[in-house]
Amino acid sequence: MSLIVSNLTCEYRTNPLGIDVLQPRLSWQLESNERGTRQSAYRILVAASASYLSGGSALWDSGKVASDRSIHVRYEGPGLSSGQRLYWKVWVWDESGREAESTPAWWEMGLLERTDWQGQWIGAFFSGGPRTTSPAPYLRKEFKVTKPIASARLFATALGLYETYLNGVRAGDALLTPGWTDYGKRIQYQVYDVSDLIQAETNAWGAVLGDGWGVGHIAWVGRQRYTDRPKFLAQIILTYSDGSQETIGTDQSWKVTQGAILESDMLMGESYDARRELTGWCETGYDDASWWPAEVFEDPKDAALVATNGPAVKRQEELRPVSINKIPDFVNPRWIFDLGQNMVGWIRLCVQGKKGTTVSIRYAEVLNPDGTLYTANLRSARNTDYYTLKGGEEEIWEPHFLFHGFRYIELLGFPGTPTEETVTGIVVHSDIPQTGSFECSDPLINQLQHNIVWGQKGNFVDVPTDCPQRDERLGWTGDAQVFIRTAAYNRNVAGFFTKWTRDLEDAQFPDGAYPAVAPNPAAWAIGDGGPAWADAGVICPWTIYECYGDIGLLEARYESMQRFIEFLSQTSRNGLRCYADYTGWHGFGDWLALDGSDGREGGTSKELIGTAFFAYSSHLLAKIAGLLGRDKDAEHYNGLSRQAREAFVEHFVLPDGTIKGGTQTSYVLALHFDLLPQDLRSIAVSELVRNIEQRDNHLSTGFVGTPYLNRVLSEAGHLDTAYGLLKQTTWPSWLYSVTQGATTIWERWDGWTHDKGFQDQGMNSFNHYAYGAVGAWMYAVIGGIDLDPEHPGYKHIMMHPQPGGGLTHAKAGLYSMYGLIRSEWALQKDTFDWQITVPASTTASVYVPAKDASHVTESGHSIEKAQGITFVRMENGFAVFEVEAGSYSFSSEIDKPA
Ligand code: BGC
Repeated sequence: MSLIVSNLTCEYRTNPLGIDVLQPRLSWQLESNERGTRQSAYRILVAASASYLSGGSALWDSGKVASDRSIHVRYEGPGLSSGQRLYWKVWVWDESGREAESTPAWWEMGLLERTDWQGQWIGAFFSGGPRTTSPAPYLRKEFKVTKPIASARLFATALGLYETYLNGVRAGDALLTPGWTDYGKRIQYQVYDVSDLIQAETNAWGAVLGDGWGVGHIAWVGRQRYTDRPKFLAQIILTYSDGSQETIGTDQSWKVTQGAILESDMLMGESYDARRELTGWCETGYDDASWWPAEVFEDPKDAALVATNGPAVKRQEELRPVSINKIPDFVNPRWIFDLGQNMVGWIRLCVQGKKGTTVSIRYAEVLNPDGTLYTANLRSARNTDYYTLKGGEEEIWEPHFLFHGFRYIELLGFPGTPTEETVTGIVVHSDIPQTGSFECSDPLINQLQHNIVWGQKGNFVDVPTDCPQRDERLGWTGDAQVFIRTAAYNRNVAGFFTKWTRDLEDAQFPDGAYPAVAPNPAAWAIGDGGPAWADAGVICPWTIYECYGDIGLLEARYESMQRFIEFLSQTSRNGLRCYADYTGWHGFGDWLALDGSDGREGGTSKELIGTAFFAYSSHLLAKIAGLLGRDKDAEHYNGLSRQAREAFVEHFVLPDGTIKGGTQTSYVLALHFDLLPQDLRSIAVSELVRNIEQRDNHLSTGFVGTPYLNRVLSEAGHLDTAYGLLKQTTWPSWLYSVTQGATTIWERWDGWTHDKGFQDQGMNSFNHYAYGAVGAWMYAVIGGIDLDPEHPGYKHIMMHPQPGGGLTHAKAGLYSMYGLIRSEWALQKDTFDWQITVPASTTASVYVPAKDASHVTESGHSIEKAQGITFVRMENGFAVFEVEAGSYSFSSEIDKPA
């Protein structure tokens, strides 16, 4: 019998180095192999050194606090200063007074003031133009340390991207640093512990800069959206053993030159000439006499320098080719490699050949019928890398400062015959740890889950992008909002959305509107996002609160959300948003729906979508206001929501109770956002079901309606219809692309069909996560793991698997803030066997399908004898129990499912 306290995190991170949250929040988990374990009290101790934790003077001692709270407990000690390292520990007591003590953890503060920065922005005198790229600047400097070192920290950022090296070794493993923010307002920096890289006496420090988002091509609007050339700002703070400190920063004493990276652009690709490598350039003793002095640039003072508050992009896994195909060409053959998976990142190339040979590497998601790459859907993104050999030994190369979205690559100009060893796929994405798993008895649904997960991997690259391949790759707000709930099952996205909701706030217009994309490059500025896009500003923080219990994020975004709802209230008319003669932006409608997505062809009208989302977002903000203790605000937003609901009924519900336009999405929104009076709900439900049946059990929803479609159906008692849609394999459906061999989610239901071939090349991504939003329903309704909004962060869990669709078993897991939630069921003839785990300090409502409660056993015992279980009621063929933390094994007799 053990009680363990583990998984100590600070602002969602384990031992974070360089944060600027002034009162960071601490979380931990309890582990126990007994039932009913829950925390009754905790004590946190924070000290300036690890040894103080075991007795000595603490900076902050919370004292023993009687509380079951184990997530997001705010540090309340004295103010923290730049660079300060804090060690902490927690003691917990369980319900019977048993005590457990954690091992120590730490966090370290970043640079809190602008004046802490002694470095200057440096770069090269050369630059590209609005359409032309320029070689990557290599920067270097040598410095001396005079005394023994206790520790060293490297602080770095860039406009553009950077990699930095000390004595030949790269600092850290983060990619695409400093990440994408609205650089005019905010630039993130990273902090590295380089204590082990500093050597006695002379040290060489180097950096190579890439164009990235700051300088290179963004979407379809060209280069230099933020600045004309890459710039680097960094400093190393050395702490000597005698306690003194010294700072070495970027300044005019640095030197700069050009090297092997002739061009590096996220959309276009990299050109690398290995003959121009600067061997030893970031090591001591390198002769830089021919290098130029670095240019010093003015500090962009309007932009805040902030610590990174989300996960870094990192390399995650490697893929081997599953086939190689030779396509003869006039001079040279083209070699097509299939990596077996539509992925995001780049390749590692192994090649041997004559000096000066250039291999071109093209990337694509799909193939033409003749086996060549299909690249028309990449639009103006060249997505091609060029590698020029230096000759001699085998050469191993990977591109820098970019990512490609692809499954296939083509090598042209390859010397000799390539093998499977020639190419390796390097998968790259934000370091969002896997939290969820889902599996069931249907292999097609499992492949769908796989595709959803890969859609998320490929599009969570510092910002949530719509797609990773064509000249777009933007943080589309609508897409993010549609997918966030599913995303939060598959991976821990709390930190990722903490960062991105700040990007969204940075991008908010002065009138309160949120844009369609964030970051929203200033000189270009895509405007008001409109219904379901702009609403991401409320829906995303709210979802992070629901899934991770993060009320701090709601607090942080509250004023911004208020400005948005005020904007809606100003621009709507008596609750109608985007009314017909509104002169502002009416939005994207039910984007890519199959029943007239722009509302003109009898589809879902934009004013209907606008009004529905106005009612929903203001309702959410009323709830948020209530949670933050702002009751007057809550009343105000409830009033706005009520008015929008009334407008919805008045304008869109016809006398017979049907909804204007009659689309699936219109019914889905009306039901999911609770916009109808009780007596009209059943009409809406039967109209929705009728519509689906009329389409021979197919959906017709676009981005807006799809996420809630199955949820609405199963909640309204039409589980069979929901399963019917999920299991549908003919177009349009979730499984259609799966049957066509998809390994990610397609942007369109009909990205490719037998009769029409490829959809419109102008907009046909094969890696767009939006329609993957059905994943949340799969976890909740098939897997049986869902949250209870009244007890966010899975403090109380709703476990309500609803077998159907002929499935015979399912298995889902979710690492919540409290630990692992598990659900695994199997259906055999007339018995239902179900194993679940409810983490310590949480409880669950458990719905066991059963004729009645007396037909349910737990671990072979009748329920009355089982510990930790209370029978509550029978409900629609389920015996409902309240259970305490622990693992349970239920078995029940059921009426044979249809
Ligand atoms: C993007 C979408 C986005 C949409 C807005 C497209 O180009 O790829 O996913 O939400 O524009 O309508």
